[in-house]
Formats: sequence, C-alpha cells, structure tokens
Amino acid sequence: MSDHTSPEFNPVQTSQLRCIGCDAVCEKAAQTFRCAACGDLLEIVYPGWDTTRVDVAALRAVWRQRRTSGLSVDESGVWRFRELLPSFHDPKEVITLLEGNTPLYEMSGCARIAGLRQLYAKHQGMNPTGSFKDTGMTLAASVARREGFRWVACASTGNTSASMAAYAARGGMRSVVLIPEGKVSWGKLSQALDYGAVTCQLKTDFDGCMRVLNEVVQRMPIYLLNSVNPYRLEGQKTAAIELMEQFDWQPPDHVIVPGGNLGNSSALGKAFLEMKKLGFISTLTKISIIQAAGANPLVRTMRENGGKTLIPVHAETAASAIRIGNPASWKKAVRILQATGGTVEQVSEVEIALAKAEIGADGVGCEPASAVTLAGLKKLVKQGFVKPRETVVLILTGHLLKDPEFTLKFHRGDLFVGAESEKEAGTLRPQQRAPIVLDADVDAVIQTLRKADDRLEM
Ligand code: F0G
Repeated sequence: MSDHTSPEFNPVQTSQLRCIGCDAVCEKAAQTFRCAACGDLLEIVYPGWDTTRVDVAALRAVWRQRRTSGLSVDESGVWRFRELLPSFHDPKEVITLLEGNTPLYEMSGCARIAGLRQLYAKHQGMNPTGSFKDTGMTLAASVARREGFRWVACASTGNTSASMAAYAARGGMRSVVLIPEGKVSWGKLSQALDYGAVTCQLKTDFDGCMRVLNEVVQRMPIYLLNSVNPYRLEGQKTAAIELMEQFDWQPPDHVIVPGGNLGNSSALGKAFLEMKKLGFISTLTKISIIQAAGANPLVRTMRENGGKTLIPVHAETAASAIRIGNPASWKKAVRILQATGGTVEQVSEVEIALAKAEIGADGVGCEPASAVTLAGLKKLVKQGFVKPRETVVLILTGHLLKDPEFTLKFHRGDLFVGAESEKEAGTLRPQQRAPIVLDADVDAVIQTLRKADDRLEM
C-alpha cells in the first residue's frame, strides 16, 4: 500500500447495521453478528441513498479510471467501488491483496450444451486465494483490524479458511480456523497452514463447526469472519457491480449462483437491488440459486413452505464447498429470490461431475461446487424458466485446482464406483480422459495421438 492518501478516498456515504428481522438499528454488532433484540442477522444499509441522488455517470467514469491508478485501493476490484461500501477514512486501514477484477468469459461450448445463444461465466475463482471469498474478506478483515482485534476466526469448508488466513496474515492479525475433519480439500488446508492459521479439524461437519465457533467468539475477543458478518457480504457485492461494468451496464437476464451458507447469492442480489435503486441499471437481473440434491435446505424450504421456515438437512455431497445443511443466510436468500424473481433448483452428483467437465472443456474450469451452476441452468432451460435467447451469467465461485482428487477420480472413472449412481455415471464416459501410461517410446506416443485424432498426419 502506498503512503500517498488519495484526496477522494473518503466517500461521503454513512452506513448503518440493521436487523433483517425487526429493523432495529445497532451502533455496534455483537460478537455473533446477531441482533440483540430478536437474534436475526444484520445487514448494512445506507440511509443517505433514500434522499440523495448519485451522479451515476461520474461514478462509472471514476471507477473505470481507477484501473490505471498505482494505488492499491484503486487497483483492487473491491475498493475501486468504495462509494457503494462502508466508509474508510484512510487507505492505510485497508488490507488488500488486489482482489476482484475477475474475468468474464464467453462459454460457447456450454451455451450449446445448455441450449442458449449466449452464456457467460464470471470467474470468481481467479481471486488471489482461489475463490470469491477474497472480495468479502478484504473488507471484513479491514474492519476487524480497525476495531482493534488481534484474532479473527471462521468455520469453513475450505475456501473461507484460506482466504481469511491470507488476509489476517497481510493485516498482522492471528487467525483460527475450524474445519470439518476429513471433509476439506488438502489444497485449501495447506493454504491456511502456510498463511499461519491455527487450524483445528473438528470431529463434526460444517454446521457443527459453526455451532462451536459461535460459542467461542462469545467467550473470547475474537472477530468472526463467516458470512454472517455483513461486511463480508458488502465486499462480495462488488462482483455484481464489476459484472455490470463488464456488460457496459446492460443487465443480463439471469445470474446463476451456487448455494451453500447462502451469503454470496444474498450479496449479489443486494448489489443488483442497490444498483437499480441508485439508477446504475434500469432492469433487475433474476438471481437463481442451485444446490446439490444432497445438500438442499433452500430448495426444500422454497418448495415445501414457500420460504417461510428453514428446513435443515443432513448435508452430503462431493461438492465439499456447499456441503451445508443449516445455512445461516437463508432468509436473506429467500428475500433475494422473491425480489429478483429468480428460482431454486437442485442437481445430482452425476450432473455436477458432468457440468464440471463441460466447463473444463471450454478451457475455463472450476471446482465442483461452482459447476452446480451449469448443471442447474440446463434444467432451468428445459423447464422454460430460462429462454434460449436470454443472456445468462454463471458465477464460478472457486478454482479448478481446489479439488484435484475429484477431477482425477472423475477422469479415471472412479468417482462413482460403489455409489448408488454408478449406473447413471456410465453416461459420463465420453467426457473422461484418464492419463495414459506408456513406455518412453516415440512410436507409442504417436500411436496414442493417432488414436485420439485419425486425421493427424505428417
Ligand atoms: N462455492 C464455493 C467455491 C464456496 O467455497 C462456497 C462456500 C459456496 C460456493 C457457497 O457460497 O456459502 O455464500 O452460499 N464456501 C464456504 C467456505 C462455506 O467455508 O469456504 P455461500
């Protein structure tokens, strides 16, 4: 971070923490980020936006211009949009790894498969630690340090822990991570260890880790960095603003998001609602949320009681990032579905594996949890909810290298051996490309190439 203080760094808006259940405004959040009056989650609101007009054209120009600045807070794809975030008075208060600024890819192969003319993927896995979590962590970790915390903590299925540990290290704070034993990817675990986190593997699942952590933060001066922390969601919101910039402020018809703890879908939806309110966009994009069939509390909640009370489930899916049965932000997600006119869908393990390979075959790739977006989209097109001429964006939340074991097993044909879906998995064979073991022999390599392409001649 440069020492130079940008004169325009201090944006004018004031923000408040407000309960989503009883609307109570609180000065300072409790350690659990729950409302003291009713126990519901908090969100960040900007009262000034109800009365002031924002100069939309001027802000769009400033945001674009900042891309060429040498200041880290301008280069960051989160802080670039700081006029729509809680105020920080000094860039030196900000912990950044230059997150955001992630690519938007056209996905022509996947579009054909899904039956669409135009399909895009916004790859949030291209963030510094390999997932969308960085966009929220930069803001929430900065708040933690500003409030004087020495320790930060999270429960995680992998990505949050890696991200939090990195930002804590950059900000000179200690971090503690609770992860479910045996159910987290080695790549993510190794990131947390290298970034110096105290890493505890608990003999429980993600929901159990969350329960324990809620108690810990009430007994110790430790700042909670799960997505119940509304500052996380404010940072994650910027992905939607950046997406609109990439679309030259013409909103796509649909954005499709994986659903786990349901923070990210809520954050993106909040951004679209705010951009519409402020006049950055004139129509609202539908946000649809896809879950694994084995970890489908939101799908059940919407289908069985219209979003009134959460139906928790015992979560089981190989898409480890979204193996969550009791999502904290379910009410926020229901609100976003209802406000944007989006829907929910669930997909099987075989459908996830196939979609992941299809995204890979477009040269993009993602982790299994992200692939639920394409798998779900195919169903939404078949049902007629998404029309062939509509523009759709898949949010790819994590990097292909997150779960290499999943990918290797898929290509070797081992992923579903002994599973209920073994027979259905036969349909995956055309996508499977296992490594071929050969002698160190030129002819053997040439023969293999010819088999792969009989038109390959010298
Ligand atoms: N995709 C990826 C790659 C994730 O890591 C997560 C969540 C999600 C989707 C779901 O997002 O929870 O906001 O609905 N991972 C968490 C973690 C829970 O601990 O890393 P959500």
